[in-house]
Amino acid sequence: MERGARIPQNNSFARDIYRAFTAELGAMTAYVQGAVTLAQHLPSVTRLFDEIARVEISHYEQLGQLLLHLGIAPALNVRLRNEAVYLEDHSTVAASLLAAQMIKEKIREEQSAAREYRRLAAIAPSDAIKDMLEAIAAEEEEHAIALDGMRKRFENS
Ligand SMILES: [Fe+2]
Repeated sequence: MERGARIPQNNSFARDIYRAFTAELGAMTAYVQGAVTLAQHLPSVTRLFDEIARVEISHYEQLGQLLLHLGIAPALNVRLRNEAVYLEDHSTVAASLLAAQMIKEKIREEQSAAREYRRLAAIAPSDAIKDMLEAIAAEEEEHAIALDGMRKRFENS
């Protein structure tokens, strides 16, 4: 394959795996960023986010290996905002609101990731790949459930 060649348009499976691969890196980064931001005020959320981040990085690794197996370079494709921003409010109330907002958003993302992995598992080119994608989907579903438990704790407090 030529260096830097694009994934062929007709290989939609590989393209979708590549998209999932970059989404995992984004998810991992967002969880770590959330964990750091909330650590001082909401250690229980920080612990959950840290745990989930570790699973997301393992998904990133698994999908990177799958891309290699499919003949695709798991290229690093990141854009980070390299600019410091002052926190407007350091209060726990602000942290709780921020956490509640993040958790709601993450529940939706985990559910949609799980649906996407189930869809990809159904069209996987081999049983081994199918099993891997099913296992990742199950972990995303577990994340949604764990986050929903955390959301309920917020609502009841
Ligand atoms: Fe994931």
